[in-house]
Amino acid sequence: MAKIYSASTTAPVNIATLKYWGKRDTKLNLPTNSSISVTLSQDDLRTHTTASASESFTRDILWLNGTEESVTGARTTACLAELRALRKKLEDSNSSLPPLSSYKLHIVSENNFPTAAGLASSAAGFAALIRAIADLYELPQSEEELSRIARQGSGSACRSLYGGYVAWEMGNKEDGSDSRAVQIATEAQWPDMRAAILVVSAKKKETSSTTGMQTTAKTSPLFKYRVEVVVPERFKQMSKAIEKKDFEVFADLTMADSNQFHAVCLDSSPPVFYMNDVSRNVISLVEKLNSLAGRIVAAYTFDAGPNAVLYYLERDESVVLGLLKAALPDLEGWQKKPAVIASVPEGI
Ligand code: PMV
Repeated sequence: MAKIYSASTTAPVNIATLKYWGKRDTKLNLPTNSSISVTLSQDDLRTHTTASASESFTRDILWLNGTEESVTGARTTACLAELRALRKKLEDSNSSLPPLSSYKLHIVSENNFPTAAGLASSAAGFAALIRAIADLYELPQSEEELSRIARQGSGSACRSLYGGYVAWEMGNKEDGSDSRAVQIATEAQWPDMRAAILVVSAKKKETSSTTGMQTTAKTSPLFKYRVEVVVPERFKQMSKAIEKKDFEVFADLTMADSNQFHAVCLDSSPPVFYMNDVSRNVISLVEKLNSLAGRIVAAYTFDAGPNAVLYYLERDESVVLGLLKAALPDLEGWQKKPAVIASVPEGI
């Protein structure tokens, strides 16, 4: 029987605090603005992926949470082709290496959280896929170089190759060679950041981020102002706030950016809705908490779905979680560091 070569890895979810929304090139997944995110702890939301290659495999197969998924979509194909080309180069320079680039791949991925419900599952998914195959192929490429490949799978995936605080610099080259993720700060540089995730709904979102982005970019008058004027300034301010560990500035920008992202969605034709009444209640709750405290204690942010992510500092954990528990008594919480995950049943 032919030998099976395997490598396994995990990649965490990242939640954007300055949102990527809009593509200037849909094939290469080049964004219309730079973005920033915080990567959550590997213990919390993550994808575990094993990639195997063997001469005996007859076709590429991908299983996600036990179900076979297509590997022939343009994005997965682009990622696999780039990784195989890098492996082929290695094999050409070292004839003792097994010819894995010519073997078919079997990929097994498991998420420990709801898929496609606005919890950045594609980010962790593609990051884990790229990392697992890069490890299987023993590629010497850096995270930054791999991030250019992950970006082609799902834009936000490029940021999940790093821990800590990460920027995706949009770049301006047509071939996308300068559109990649870089780390702004490691988790250890600002270790007291915490995240609470409120799973308002685990249902698959109605409008995919790709469709939503296209609708917004084509039809929203506010979108142009956002990408040209607002985001470039916010990108500088947020990077600086992270470097200086200035939570209030970071939190203020995070909430403003989430609100503007949902505003451009609403400004699209037809309008795109991702938040629901529970999401809006969470916004009011956090706004009240901050106003009662007389300082910014917590920041909310929402991706392309109704689930809330709250960022706060460790010292405020009891206040933030205490308030959430009082306001949402059915909240099931389980605490893990550095991210605190909690789920809220629907209909609260
Ligand atoms: O990477 P995609 O195509 O799933 O888009 C992600 C879009 C947001 O999550 C809403 C924002 C972001 O920067 O992650």
